[in-house]
Amino acid sequence: MNIPNKIELANIPTPIQAIFFEGFEILIKRDDYTGIEWTGNKIRKLEYLIFDALQKKADVLITCGGVQSNHARATAAVASRLGLKSILYLRGKEPKTYDGNLALDKLFGAEIRFVTQEEYDNIQEIVEKEIASLKKKGLKAVFIPEGGSSALGIWGYIECAQELSKQLKSFKNKPSHIITAVGSGGTLAGLVLGKKLYGLKSNLIGVNVLKTSGDFEKIVYELANECSKKYRLGVKVNTKDFTILDGYSKEGYENISKDKLELLAFIAQDYGLLLDPVYTGKAFFGMVDYFVYQGNEFNKLMFIHTGGIFGVFPKIKKYLDTLENSVF
Ligand SMILES: Cc1ncc(COP(=O)(O)O)c(C=O)c1O
Repeated sequence: MNIPNKIELANIPTPIQAIFFEGFEILIKRDDYTGIEWTGNKIRKLEYLIFDALQKKADVLITCGGVQSNHARATAAVASRLGLKSILYLRGKEPKTYDGNLALDKLFGAEIRFVTQEEYDNIQEIVEKEIASLKKKGLKAVFIPEGGSSALGIWGYIECAQELSKQLKSFKNKPSHIITAVGSGGTLAGLVLGKKLYGLKSNLIGVNVLKTSGDFEKIVYELANECSKKYRLGVKVNTKDFTILDGYSKEGYENISKDKLELLAFIAQDYGLLLDPVYTGKAFFGMVDYFVYQGNEFNKLMFIHTGGIFGVFPKIKKYLDTLENSVF
């Protein structure tokens, strides 16, 4: 097995906390506490990707995502921490006011380029041109893929699976299911590989916040097997090694339905736990709906809180309106 090197940026291991929800104990793996200005799950992947970029003598990190991309903001934060420049290609129109992650991108000194969906579909080509033009100016730019989800980036979650496997040794009652949000597939792909390598017993469940379960079965399968091949891990992943729970993002990636907002406001009020509207909120809702309310079988649940906190702020009025309409 060829384990790639990484630069240490994250506060890990992250703690595991328990909450009691509708009479069930739910463990929360606090990957929102990983550090570098609340980067959530992204910093684990960036530890590997940025080591590689530094080996390549990068002056500039280029990445891409949606206008409120957590990954783009995390990359900008880390770049400024390391004295590098960052360029972010964000899919969507420039809004009149910058808030949430976008405002932070600016604060961290990133150069922001807004692109249409059509341009985004050809992002590789656009980025290659940018890299070539920076080269003429004597600057080395390295591209980090969307969500940091590549055969290298997913090492962050292979390592997280190892961390979990060690942490759970002291738990008498281990989680039967571990649940995470799925956006570009890297977090789940890393966990799936790490489960095989480090003997994690729990079933792995991803809640997709965009696309379909079929899309992510393919993406996670391909990412995990590409990584296994590239780093000679000697394991083969198949689509039965994980489950994607579909149907929890019908309102669309950037939106959140009223019933989900009500749950998130309740969780904030009763547990002091903040979940974002794009990723963790939808995944947490999916988890409690599928297991607790629909009664599908489980012994104990673990939710990976992957961060995304700044996504709360562009929608904060909606969160507060939910409280105003609450009967409590
Ligand atoms: C807060 C948050 N949680 C979960 C995810 C999903 O992780 P992945 O892209 O590795 O599927 C993302 C990014 O897409 C994210 O920003």
